[in-house]
Amino acid sequence: MSFAFGIGIGTQNKKGDWLEVFYQQPVMAPGSVLMEVVSNTLGYQGGNQAIQAKAEQLSELASALRRAGETTQAILAEKASQSSRPVAVTILDTDDAASSTPEVYLKLHLISHRLAKPHSLKLDGIFGLLPNLAWTSEGAIDLEELPERQLQARIEGRTLEVKSVDKFPQMTDYVVPSGVRIADTARVRLGAYVGEGTTVMHEGFINFNAGTEGTSMIEGRISAGVMIGKGSDLGGGCSTMGTLSGGGNIIISVGENCLIGANAGIGIPLGDRCTVEAGLYITAGTKVALLDDHNELVEVIKARDLANKPDLLFRRNSQTGAVECKTNKSAIELNEELHANN
Ligand SMILES: CC(C)(COP(=O)(O)OP(=O)(O)OC[C@H]1O[C@@H](n2cnc3c(N)ncnc32)[C@H](O)[C@@H]1OP(=O)(O)O)[C@@H](O)C(=O)NCCC(=O)NCCS
Repeated sequence: MSFAFGIGIGTQNKKGDWLEVFYQQPVMAPGSVLMEVVSNTLGYQGGNQAIQAKAEQLSELASALRRAGETTQAILAEKASQSSRPVAVTILDTDDAASSTPEVYLKLHLISHRLAKPHSLKLDGIFGLLPNLAWTSEGAIDLEELPERQLQARIEGRTLEVKSVDKFPQMTDYVVPSGVRIADTARVRLGAYVGEGTTVMHEGFINFNAGTEGTSMIEGRISAGVMIGKGSDLGGGCSTMGTLSGGGNIIISVGENCLIGANAGIGIPLGDRCTVEAGLYITAGTKVALLDDHNELVEVIKARDLANKPDLLFRRNSQTGAVECKTNKSAIELNEELHANN
């Protein structure tokens, strides 16, 4: 069985290089019938490949898919055959590192369509395959071609709005997964996994290969690679430490029913039902005073030793400045209150 498949409509620059691809209905683990039709009509002979298909090839593909009972993809191929933009039929036989822009886009789509979880796909080397682009009101534009397009738009009485200059587009221009609210769509990149029941407020951010498992209120930043468990909330402006820069290599995650307070931050993975006080940043090496139920010191340990442990409350003692950790008794209550208005 192949790994993934997608019929995508994309953008190329004047040199004919792919800039981006939109896959409306990517397929995870396509069946042998679908792959056989693609081999017969497009000459696909195995491996990972993005085939740029012409209108006639797509019509032929559509008819063959229909005969084979692959109706959804047949309709897509039919529609794509009328596209004025280039069409990529992308086949990933395996999850090996991508070797083209359409392949990377297919992988990012798989995550944002919730067909694959963050960390489950090989994303090595994707930065080199994602061109830095102007994302505009008229689609993706190669930066070298931007001044000309801006001038042309003015001449024709239009304004070309450049919404961002980045390697990743915003997720919602490609897919809006079910049951989510995203107040500022620019804050969620393609390749984010936004769980059913998640609200991302204006201050919230979700990077690629990162996201939420289910119901969450996100008012802080979810860095690349970070996954947030069901029922957990990120308070306004809080930070989860990523691994893309700064030497950190612990993959951060947050368990279920946690609360990271406003302006707080974590550099260790949290277990279930943990709370971090507003404003407190816990790094892996932070020395933490473990307190018992009577607020007596039990021992001083490093925060990394508390990684993934459940039911913890982290706070900075407002009188001594020491970072303290106690058993968390109010996590669920706090979350229920916050979720009441999701
Ligand atoms: C850490 C936090 C969870 C503690 O809240 P709580 O469990 O309700 O605790 P309380 O504020 O009732 O305090 C319990 C006791 O601990 C004390 N205490 C609380 N924080 C303390 C601190 N940092 N240092 C010393 N004592 C502290 C209180 O004074 C109180 O003492 P008392 O027993 O003598 O009355 C809360 O302060 C917090 O930071 N919540 C995050 C909220 C948030 O940011 N939400 C997101 C919004 S966008």
